[in-house]
Amino acid sequence: KDKNDPLNEKIYVLFREKNSDTSPEADPWISRVARVCKVDEGGPKQLLQNIWTSFLKARLVCGIPRESLYFNRLQDVFIQHADDWRDSQVYALFSSSWNSTAVCIYSLAELDFVFEHSTFKGYSEAIPTPRPGMCVKQSNSIPISTLQIIKDHPDMKDWIHPIQKDTPFFTSNKNFTKIAVDRVQASDESIHSVLLLAKDNGVILKILEDGSKAFIISETHLCNGSAPVHSMKLDSEKRKLFVGYPGQISVLDLQRCQDYNASCEECVLSRDPYCAWTEQEGRFTRDVQQALTAPLGIELSVPTGVPFYLSCPVDSNHATYKWEHDQKSIPGQQTQSECLLLIPAMTTDIHGNYKCTSHELDYTKTVREYNLLIGQVRSASNDAFKLRAQDWLMAAFATSAFYLRSL
Ligand SMILES: *[C@@H]1O[C@H](CO)[C@@H](O)[C@H](O)[C@H]1NC(C)=O
Ligand SMILES: *[C@@H]1O[C@H](CO)[C@@H](O)[C@H](O)[C@H]1NC(C)=O
Ligand SMILES: *[C@@H]1O[C@H](CO)[C@@H](O)[C@H](O)[C@H]1NC(C)=O
Ligand SMILES: *[C@@H]1O[C@H](CO)[C@@H](O)[C@H](O)[C@H]1NC(C)=O
Repeated sequence: KDKNDPLNEKIYVLFREKNSDTSPEADPWISRVARVCKVDEGGPKQLLQNIWTSFLKARLVCGIPRESLYFNRLQDVFIQHADDWRDSQVYALFSSSWNSTAVCIYSLAELDFVFEHSTFKGYSEAIPTPRPGMCVKQSNSIPISTLQIIKDHPDMKDWIHPIQKDTPFFTSNKNFTKIAVDRVQASDESIHSVLLLAKDNGVILKILEDGSKAFIISETHLCNGSAPVHSMKLDSEKRKLFVGYPGQISVLDLQRCQDYNASCEECVLSRDPYCAWTEQEGRFTRDVQQALTAPLGIELSVPTGVPFYLSCPVDSNHATYKWEHDQKSIPGQQTQSECLLLIPAMTTDIHGNYKCTSHELDYTKTVREYNLLIGQVRSASNDAFKLRAQDWLMAAFATSAFYLRSL
Protein backbone atom coordinates (compact mmCIF):
# COMPACT_ATOMS: atom_id res chain seq x y z
CA LYS A 1 0.00 0.00 0.00
CA ASP A 2 1.15 3.54 -0.73
CA LYS A 3 -1.30 6.28 0.30
CA ASN A 4 0.75 9.00 -1.41
CA ASP A 5 1.01 7.16 -4.71
CA PRO A 6 -2.01 4.87 -5.24
CA LEU A 7 -1.12 4.38 -8.92
CA ASN A 8 2.02 2.53 -7.84
CA GLU A 9 0.43 0.15 -5.39
CA LYS A 10 1.49 -3.40 -6.16
CA ILE A 11 0.78 -7.01 -5.39
CA TYR A 12 3.66 -9.37 -4.63
CA VAL A 13 3.30 -13.12 -4.84
CA LEU A 14 5.85 -15.43 -3.26
CA PHE A 15 5.81 -18.98 -4.55
CA ARG A 16 7.83 -21.96 -5.65
CA GLU A 17 7.61 -23.54 -9.07
CA LYS A 18 9.14 -26.37 -11.10
CA ASN A 19 12.60 -25.39 -12.25
CA SER A 20 12.78 -24.93 -16.03
CA ASP A 21 16.40 -26.10 -15.79
CA THR A 22 15.88 -29.87 -15.77
CA SER A 23 19.57 -30.89 -15.77
CA PRO A 24 20.31 -33.63 -13.22
CA GLU A 25 22.37 -31.37 -10.94
CA ALA A 26 19.68 -28.67 -10.79
CA ASP A 27 17.14 -28.60 -7.96
CA PRO A 28 13.70 -29.54 -9.38
CA TRP A 29 12.27 -26.54 -7.47
CA ILE A 30 12.93 -22.84 -7.57
CA SER A 31 11.44 -20.02 -5.48
CA ARG A 32 10.30 -16.71 -6.83
CA VAL A 33 8.61 -13.41 -6.22
CA ALA A 34 6.21 -12.05 -8.80
CA ARG A 35 4.98 -8.48 -8.96
CA VAL A 36 1.93 -6.96 -10.59
CA CYS A 37 0.39 -3.46 -10.50
CA LYS A 38 -2.98 -3.07 -8.78
CA VAL A 39 -4.21 -0.78 -11.59
CA ASP A 40 -3.37 -3.38 -14.25
CA GLU A 41 -6.44 -4.20 -16.35
CA GLY A 42 -4.80 -6.19 -19.12
CA GLY A 43 -3.47 -5.24 -22.56
CA PRO A 44 -5.00 -4.07 -25.85
CA LYS A 45 -6.68 -6.42 -28.33
CA GLN A 46 -3.42 -7.22 -30.16
CA LEU A 47 -1.43 -8.43 -27.14
CA LEU A 48 -2.08 -9.61 -23.57
CA GLN A 49 -5.78 -8.85 -23.67
CA ASN A 50 -7.25 -9.88 -20.27
CA ILE A 51 -3.74 -10.85 -19.19
CA TRP A 52 -1.50 -8.89 -16.79
CA THR A 53 0.61 -6.32 -18.59
CA SER A 54 2.87 -5.68 -15.59
CA PHE A 55 3.66 -9.22 -14.44
CA LEU A 56 7.36 -9.75 -13.70
CA LYS A 57 9.09 -12.38 -11.63
CA ALA A 58 12.48 -12.77 -10.02
CA ARG A 59 14.35 -15.57 -8.30
CA LEU A 60 14.25 -15.46 -4.50
CA VAL A 61 17.63 -16.63 -3.23
CA CYS A 62 18.34 -18.12 0.18
CA GLY A 63 21.60 -19.93 0.73
CA ILE A 64 25.36 -19.77 0.92
CA PRO A 65 26.40 -18.47 -2.53
CA ARG A 66 30.14 -18.98 -1.97
CA GLU A 67 29.47 -22.72 -1.51
CA SER A 68 26.71 -22.83 -4.16
CA LEU A 69 24.31 -24.18 -1.53
CA TYR A 70 20.74 -23.01 -2.01
CA PHE A 71 17.51 -23.61 -0.15
CA ASN A 72 15.21 -23.56 -3.15
CA ARG A 73 11.87 -24.73 -1.77
CA LEU A 74 9.76 -22.00 -0.26
CA GLN A 75 7.59 -23.45 2.56
CA ASP A 76 5.97 -20.46 4.21
CA VAL A 77 6.25 -16.67 4.46
CA PHE A 78 5.36 -14.05 7.03
CA ILE A 79 5.20 -10.35 6.12
CA GLN A 80 6.15 -7.85 8.79
CA HIS A 81 4.29 -4.72 7.63
CA ALA A 82 5.69 -1.26 8.34
CA ASP A 83 4.06 2.17 7.92
CA ASP A 84 6.39 2.91 5.00
CA TRP A 85 6.17 -0.07 2.63
CA ARG A 86 9.93 0.18 2.00
CA ASP A 87 10.59 -0.84 5.59
CA SER A 88 8.35 -3.88 5.43
CA GLN A 89 10.15 -7.20 5.69
CA VAL A 90 9.54 -10.64 4.29
CA TYR A 91 10.48 -13.61 6.50
CA ALA A 92 10.67 -16.68 4.31
CA LEU A 93 11.08 -20.29 5.37
CA PHE A 94 12.73 -22.65 2.87
CA SER A 95 13.70 -26.29 2.70
CA SER A 96 16.40 -27.86 0.56
CA SER A 97 17.01 -30.96 -1.55
CA TRP A 98 19.07 -32.35 1.35
CA ASN A 99 16.17 -31.87 3.80
CA SER A 100 17.55 -28.94 5.77
CA THR A 101 15.58 -25.77 6.40
CA ALA A 102 16.50 -22.07 6.49
CA VAL A 103 14.99 -18.68 7.20
CA CYS A 104 15.98 -15.70 5.06
CA ILE A 105 14.84 -12.12 5.62
CA TYR A 106 14.22 -9.69 2.75
CA SER A 107 13.55 -5.99 2.68
CA LEU A 108 10.66 -4.96 0.46
CA ALA A 109 12.70 -1.98 -0.79
CA GLU A 110 15.57 -4.23 -1.96
CA LEU A 111 13.12 -6.70 -3.44
CA ASP A 112 11.48 -3.92 -5.42
CA PHE A 113 14.85 -2.56 -6.52
CA VAL A 114 15.46 -5.70 -8.59
CA PHE A 115 12.19 -5.22 -10.48
CA GLU A 116 12.96 -1.54 -11.08
CA HIS A 117 16.61 -1.88 -12.18
CA SER A 118 17.52 -5.38 -13.37
CA THR A 119 17.75 -6.27 -17.04
CA PHE A 120 15.40 -8.93 -18.41
CA LYS A 121 16.59 -12.52 -18.72
CA GLY A 122 17.22 -13.46 -22.37
CA TYR A 123 16.77 -9.87 -23.59
CA SER A 124 19.82 -7.78 -24.49
CA GLU A 125 18.45 -4.89 -26.55
CA ALA A 126 17.58 -1.40 -25.32
CA ILE A 127 14.77 -1.35 -22.75
CA PRO A 128 11.75 0.54 -24.16
CA THR A 129 9.74 3.25 -22.38
CA PRO A 130 7.68 2.85 -20.35
CA ARG A 131 9.88 0.24 -18.70
CA PRO A 132 8.10 -3.15 -18.61
CA GLY A 133 6.42 -3.57 -15.22
CA MET A 134 5.81 0.14 -14.70
CA CYS A 135 2.31 0.91 -13.43
CA VAL A 136 0.27 2.76 -16.08
CA LYS A 137 -3.24 4.08 -15.50
CA GLN A 138 -4.66 2.68 -18.73
CA SER A 139 -2.84 -0.56 -19.23
CA ASN A 140 -4.45 -1.16 -22.62
CA SER A 141 -2.53 1.88 -23.93
CA ILE A 142 0.93 0.42 -23.17
CA PRO A 143 3.03 0.23 -26.39
CA ILE A 144 3.52 -3.19 -27.97
CA SER A 145 7.35 -3.00 -27.60
CA THR A 146 6.92 -2.90 -23.81
CA LEU A 147 4.26 -5.62 -23.76
CA GLN A 148 6.38 -7.91 -25.92
CA ILE A 149 9.05 -8.04 -23.19
CA ILE A 150 6.43 -8.79 -20.52
CA LYS A 151 5.20 -11.63 -22.72
CA ASP A 152 8.55 -13.11 -23.76
CA HIS A 153 10.99 -12.19 -20.96
CA PRO A 154 9.09 -11.68 -17.69
CA ASP A 155 12.01 -13.11 -15.68
CA MET A 156 14.46 -10.63 -14.13
CA LYS A 157 18.15 -11.34 -14.70
CA ASP A 158 19.16 -10.25 -11.17
CA TRP A 159 18.28 -12.34 -8.17
CA ILE A 160 16.65 -11.15 -4.97
CA HIS A 161 19.08 -11.63 -2.09
CA PRO A 162 18.28 -11.51 1.61
CA ILE A 163 19.35 -8.56 3.79
CA GLN A 164 22.23 -10.66 5.02
CA LYS A 165 23.65 -11.60 1.63
CA ASP A 166 26.16 -14.38 2.28
CA THR A 167 24.23 -16.67 4.61
CA PRO A 168 20.67 -17.41 5.79
CA PHE A 169 19.54 -15.85 9.08
CA PHE A 170 18.89 -19.31 10.51
CA THR A 171 19.51 -22.86 9.29
CA SER A 172 18.57 -26.20 10.78
CA ASN A 173 18.56 -29.88 9.91
CA LYS A 174 15.06 -30.07 11.42
CA ASN A 175 11.94 -30.02 9.29
CA PHE A 176 10.35 -26.63 10.02
CA THR A 177 7.17 -26.01 8.08
CA LYS A 178 5.55 -22.77 9.34
CA ILE A 179 6.73 -19.32 10.34
CA ALA A 180 5.26 -16.32 12.19
CA VAL A 181 7.07 -13.23 13.46
CA ASP A 182 6.05 -11.06 16.38
CA ARG A 183 7.28 -7.57 17.26
CA VAL A 184 7.78 -7.13 20.97
CA GLN A 185 8.53 -4.03 22.98
CA ALA A 186 10.91 -4.97 25.78
CA SER A 187 10.90 -3.29 29.19
CA ASP A 188 13.60 -0.87 28.01
CA GLU A 189 11.21 0.15 25.18
CA SER A 190 13.43 -1.27 22.43
CA ILE A 191 11.55 -3.28 19.80
CA HIS A 192 12.57 -6.85 19.05
CA SER A 193 11.47 -9.35 16.43
CA VAL A 194 10.71 -12.84 17.67
CA LEU A 195 10.42 -15.65 15.13
CA LEU A 196 8.10 -18.56 15.82
CA LEU A 197 8.92 -21.65 13.82
CA ALA A 198 6.85 -24.84 13.80
CA LYS A 199 8.49 -28.21 13.29
CA ASP A 200 6.71 -31.10 11.58
CA ASN A 201 6.53 -32.93 14.94
CA GLY A 202 4.54 -30.12 16.57
CA VAL A 203 7.39 -28.35 18.37
CA ILE A 204 7.41 -24.52 18.33
CA LEU A 205 10.76 -22.76 18.40
CA LYS A 206 10.98 -19.17 19.70
CA ILE A 207 13.93 -17.27 18.23
CA LEU A 208 15.13 -13.77 19.00
CA GLU A 209 16.35 -11.77 15.99
CA ASP A 210 19.53 -10.42 17.55
CA GLY A 211 20.93 -8.24 14.76
CA SER A 212 22.02 -10.73 12.13
CA LYS A 213 22.20 -13.57 14.66
CA ALA A 214 19.49 -16.01 15.71
CA PHE A 215 19.22 -16.66 19.44
CA ILE A 216 17.02 -19.61 20.40
CA ILE A 217 14.94 -18.60 23.42
CA SER A 218 12.88 -21.74 23.91
CA GLU A 219 11.42 -24.88 22.41
CA THR A 220 7.85 -25.82 23.31
CA HIS A 221 5.98 -29.02 22.66
CA LEU A 222 2.28 -28.17 22.49
CA CYS A 223 0.72 -31.29 21.05
CA ASN A 224 1.06 -34.56 22.90
CA GLY A 225 2.17 -37.16 20.44
CA SER A 226 3.86 -35.68 17.40
CA ALA A 227 1.55 -34.13 14.88
CA PRO A 228 2.58 -31.78 12.06
CA VAL A 229 1.50 -28.15 12.42
CA HIS A 230 -1.06 -27.31 9.73
CA SER A 231 -1.46 -23.62 10.43
CA MET A 232 -0.31 -20.86 12.76
CA LYS A 233 -2.02 -17.57 13.56
CA LEU A 234 -0.40 -14.89 15.66
CA ASP A 235 -2.38 -12.57 17.94
CA SER A 236 0.29 -10.06 18.75
CA GLU A 237 -1.92 -7.95 21.02
CA LYS A 238 -2.95 -10.88 23.21
CA ARG A 239 0.56 -12.35 22.94
CA LYS A 240 -0.76 -15.69 21.85
CA LEU A 241 0.00 -18.07 19.02
CA PHE A 242 -2.84 -20.28 17.79
CA VAL A 243 -1.52 -23.52 16.37
CA GLY A 244 -3.61 -25.90 14.28
CA TYR A 245 -2.80 -29.61 14.35
CA PRO A 246 -4.82 -32.40 12.72
CA GLY A 247 -7.97 -32.52 14.86
CA GLN A 248 -6.70 -30.13 17.52
CA ILE A 249 -6.00 -26.45 18.14
CA SER A 250 -3.50 -25.40 20.80
CA VAL A 251 -2.75 -21.94 22.12
CA LEU A 252 0.78 -20.98 23.01
CA ASP A 253 1.13 -18.20 25.52
CA LEU A 254 4.08 -16.21 24.18
CA GLN A 255 4.61 -14.56 27.53
CA ARG A 256 5.67 -17.44 29.78
CA CYS A 257 7.77 -15.69 32.38
CA GLN A 258 7.29 -18.41 34.98
CA ASP A 259 9.85 -20.39 32.95
CA TYR A 260 12.57 -18.02 34.17
CA ASN A 261 11.36 -17.19 37.64
CA ALA A 262 14.19 -18.77 39.66
CA SER A 263 16.45 -15.71 39.67
CA CYS A 264 17.05 -12.36 38.04
CA GLU A 265 20.10 -13.79 36.25
CA GLU A 266 18.08 -16.62 34.75
CA CYS A 267 15.42 -14.17 33.58
CA VAL A 268 18.00 -11.85 31.98
CA LEU A 269 19.95 -14.70 30.37
CA SER A 270 16.79 -16.08 28.78
CA ARG A 271 16.82 -12.90 26.63
CA ASP A 272 13.07 -13.26 26.23
CA PRO A 273 11.73 -9.77 25.37
CA TYR A 274 8.26 -10.78 26.63
CA CYS A 275 9.65 -10.95 30.17
CA ALA A 276 11.40 -8.65 32.60
CA TRP A 277 12.48 -8.86 36.21
CA THR A 278 11.27 -6.48 38.90
CA GLU A 279 12.46 -6.53 42.48
CA GLN A 280 9.43 -4.88 44.03
CA GLU A 281 6.39 -5.72 42.05
CA GLY A 282 4.82 -8.54 40.09
CA ARG A 283 4.57 -12.17 40.92
CA PHE A 284 8.04 -12.99 39.67
CA THR A 285 9.70 -10.99 42.38
CA ARG A 286 12.05 -13.05 44.45
CA ASP A 287 14.97 -12.47 46.71
CA VAL A 288 17.98 -12.98 44.45
CA GLN A 289 20.27 -13.76 47.35
CA GLN A 290 17.91 -16.46 48.51
CA ALA A 291 17.90 -18.05 45.10
CA LEU A 292 21.67 -18.13 44.96
CA THR A 293 22.17 -19.64 48.39
CA ALA A 294 19.60 -22.43 47.99
CA PRO A 295 21.19 -25.74 49.00
CA LEU A 296 23.03 -27.40 46.13
CA GLY A 297 25.35 -29.77 47.95
CA ILE A 298 24.79 -33.51 47.99
CA GLU A 299 26.87 -35.80 50.14
CA LEU A 300 27.51 -39.16 48.52
CA SER A 301 29.20 -42.32 49.70
CA VAL A 302 30.42 -44.69 47.01
CA PRO A 303 32.01 -48.11 47.62
CA THR A 304 35.57 -48.41 46.24
CA GLY A 305 36.08 -49.95 42.80
CA VAL A 306 32.59 -48.99 41.59
CA PRO A 307 32.32 -47.03 38.32
CA PHE A 308 29.77 -44.24 38.37
CA TYR A 309 29.07 -40.73 37.19
CA LEU A 310 28.02 -37.46 38.68
CA SER A 311 25.18 -35.70 36.95
CA CYS A 312 24.54 -32.00 36.54
CA PRO A 313 21.30 -30.76 34.92
CA VAL A 314 21.68 -28.65 31.77
CA ASP A 315 19.17 -25.79 32.18
CA SER A 316 20.35 -23.63 29.29
CA ASN A 317 21.59 -24.79 25.91
CA HIS A 318 23.48 -21.51 25.63
CA ALA A 319 25.61 -22.13 28.71
CA THR A 320 28.73 -24.28 28.92
CA TYR A 321 29.02 -26.61 31.88
CA LYS A 322 32.25 -27.50 33.68
CA TRP A 323 33.23 -29.86 36.45
CA GLU A 324 35.80 -28.91 39.02
CA HIS A 325 37.64 -30.93 41.69
CA ASP A 326 40.49 -29.69 43.90
CA GLN A 327 40.49 -26.39 41.96
CA LYS A 328 41.18 -28.35 38.77
CA SER A 329 38.81 -28.37 35.83
CA ILE A 330 37.77 -31.82 34.56
CA PRO A 331 36.05 -32.32 31.21
CA GLY A 332 32.47 -33.61 31.41
CA GLN A 333 30.27 -35.23 28.80
CA GLN A 334 27.50 -32.84 27.87
CA THR A 335 24.28 -34.35 26.56
CA GLN A 336 21.00 -32.61 25.76
CA SER A 337 19.82 -32.65 29.38
CA GLU A 338 22.87 -33.18 31.61
CA CYS A 339 26.59 -32.73 31.93
CA LEU A 340 28.05 -36.01 33.21
CA LEU A 341 31.31 -36.56 34.98
CA LEU A 342 32.45 -40.13 34.58
CA ILE A 343 34.49 -41.70 37.37
CA PRO A 344 35.76 -45.08 36.13
CA ALA A 345 36.26 -46.42 39.66
CA MET A 346 35.91 -44.98 43.13
CA THR A 347 39.29 -44.88 44.86
CA THR A 348 40.50 -43.42 48.14
CA ASP A 349 42.38 -40.54 46.46
CA ILE A 350 39.49 -39.01 44.54
CA HIS A 351 37.11 -38.22 47.38
CA GLY A 352 36.15 -34.67 48.27
CA ASN A 353 34.32 -31.82 46.64
CA TYR A 354 33.04 -31.87 43.04
CA LYS A 355 31.42 -28.80 41.64
CA CYS A 356 29.50 -28.30 38.39
CA THR A 357 29.31 -24.71 37.17
CA SER A 358 27.49 -23.15 34.26
CA HIS A 359 28.99 -20.29 32.25
CA GLU A 360 26.97 -17.97 30.07
CA LEU A 361 28.18 -14.56 28.89
CA ASP A 362 29.87 -13.22 32.02
CA TYR A 363 27.57 -14.99 34.45
CA THR A 364 28.79 -18.08 36.30
CA LYS A 365 26.77 -20.14 38.72
CA THR A 366 27.25 -23.31 40.70
CA VAL A 367 24.61 -25.77 39.59
CA ARG A 368 25.51 -28.86 41.63
CA GLU A 369 28.00 -29.73 44.28
CA TYR A 370 28.84 -33.22 45.51
CA ASN A 371 30.93 -34.31 48.44
CA LEU A 372 32.25 -37.79 47.70
CA LEU A 373 32.90 -40.13 50.61
CA ILE A 374 33.88 -43.74 50.70
CA GLY A 375 31.32 -46.09 52.17
CA GLN A 376 27.57 -45.84 52.76
CA VAL A 377 25.06 -43.45 51.20
CA ARG A 378 24.33 -40.73 53.71
CA SER A 379 22.69 -37.34 53.54
CA ALA A 380 24.16 -34.05 54.58
CA SER A 381 21.25 -32.11 55.90
CA ASN A 382 17.82 -33.39 55.11
CA ASP A 383 15.84 -36.43 54.10
CA ALA A 384 14.82 -35.02 50.75
CA PHE A 385 18.39 -34.94 49.62
CA LYS A 386 19.07 -38.38 51.05
CA LEU A 387 16.27 -39.81 48.99
CA ARG A 388 17.33 -38.06 45.86
CA ALA A 389 20.94 -39.06 46.31
CA GLN A 390 19.94 -42.70 46.72
CA ASP A 391 17.67 -42.67 43.69
CA TRP A 392 20.37 -41.07 41.72
CA LEU A 393 22.99 -43.57 42.82
CA MET A 394 20.79 -46.53 41.87
CA ALA A 395 20.29 -45.07 38.44
CA ALA A 396 23.97 -44.38 38.10
CA PHE A 397 24.90 -47.99 38.95
CA ALA A 398 22.28 -49.34 36.58
CA THR A 399 23.46 -47.31 33.62
CA SER A 400 27.17 -46.85 34.20
CA ALA A 401 28.12 -50.13 32.47
CA PHE A 402 26.20 -49.07 29.40
CA TYR A 403 27.60 -45.59 29.62
CA LEU A 404 31.17 -46.90 29.83
CA ARG A 405 30.62 -48.93 26.70
CA SER A 406 29.15 -46.04 24.79
CA LEU A 407 32.10 -43.83 25.67
C1 LIG B 1 14.60 -36.24 2.38
O1 LIG B 1 13.36 -36.67 2.91
C2 LIG B 1 12.61 -37.48 2.04
C3 LIG B 1 11.21 -37.68 2.64
O2 LIG B 1 11.30 -37.92 4.00
C4 LIG B 1 13.38 -38.79 1.79
O3 LIG B 1 12.68 -39.61 0.89
C5 LIG B 1 14.75 -38.44 1.22
O4 LIG B 1 15.54 -39.61 1.10
C6 LIG B 1 15.49 -37.45 2.10
N1 LIG B 1 16.70 -36.99 1.41
C7 LIG B 1 17.90 -36.87 2.02
C8 LIG B 1 19.02 -36.39 1.18
O5 LIG B 1 18.06 -37.12 3.21
C1 LIG C 1 8.44 -32.19 6.55
O1 LIG C 1 7.13 -32.05 7.05
C2 LIG C 1 6.14 -32.00 6.03
C3 LIG C 1 4.81 -31.72 6.72
O2 LIG C 1 4.55 -32.66 7.70
C4 LIG C 1 6.13 -33.31 5.24
O3 LIG C 1 5.19 -33.23 4.21
C5 LIG C 1 7.54 -33.53 4.66
O4 LIG C 1 7.59 -34.79 4.02
C6 LIG C 1 8.56 -33.49 5.74
N1 LIG C 1 9.89 -33.57 5.15
C7 LIG C 1 10.81 -34.40 5.57
C8 LIG C 1 12.10 -34.34 4.90
O5 LIG C 1 10.62 -35.19 6.48
C1 LIG D 1 -3.55 -35.55 24.29
O1 LIG D 1 -3.85 -35.82 25.65
C2 LIG D 1 -5.23 -35.78 25.96
C3 LIG D 1 -5.42 -35.98 27.46
O2 LIG D 1 -4.23 -36.09 28.14
C4 LIG D 1 -5.97 -36.87 25.16
O3 LIG D 1 -7.34 -36.82 25.44
C5 LIG D 1 -5.72 -36.62 23.68
O4 LIG D 1 -6.29 -37.66 22.92
C6 LIG D 1 -4.22 -36.55 23.36
N1 LIG D 1 -4.02 -36.16 21.99
C7 LIG D 1 -3.16 -36.77 21.18
C8 LIG D 1 -3.08 -36.22 19.78
O5 LIG D 1 -2.49 -37.73 21.51
C1 LIG E 1 7.93 -20.32 39.29
O1 LIG E 1 6.98 -20.88 38.41
C2 LIG E 1 6.56 -22.19 38.74
C3 LIG E 1 5.67 -22.70 37.63
O2 LIG E 1 4.60 -21.85 37.42
C4 LIG E 1 5.87 -22.16 40.11
O3 LIG E 1 5.49 -23.46 40.47
C5 LIG E 1 6.83 -21.58 41.15
O4 LIG E 1 6.16 -21.44 42.38
C6 LIG E 1 7.33 -20.22 40.68
N1 LIG E 1 8.34 -19.74 41.62
C7 LIG E 1 8.34 -18.50 42.08
C8 LIG E 1 9.46 -18.18 42.98
O5 LIG E 1 7.51 -17.67 41.77
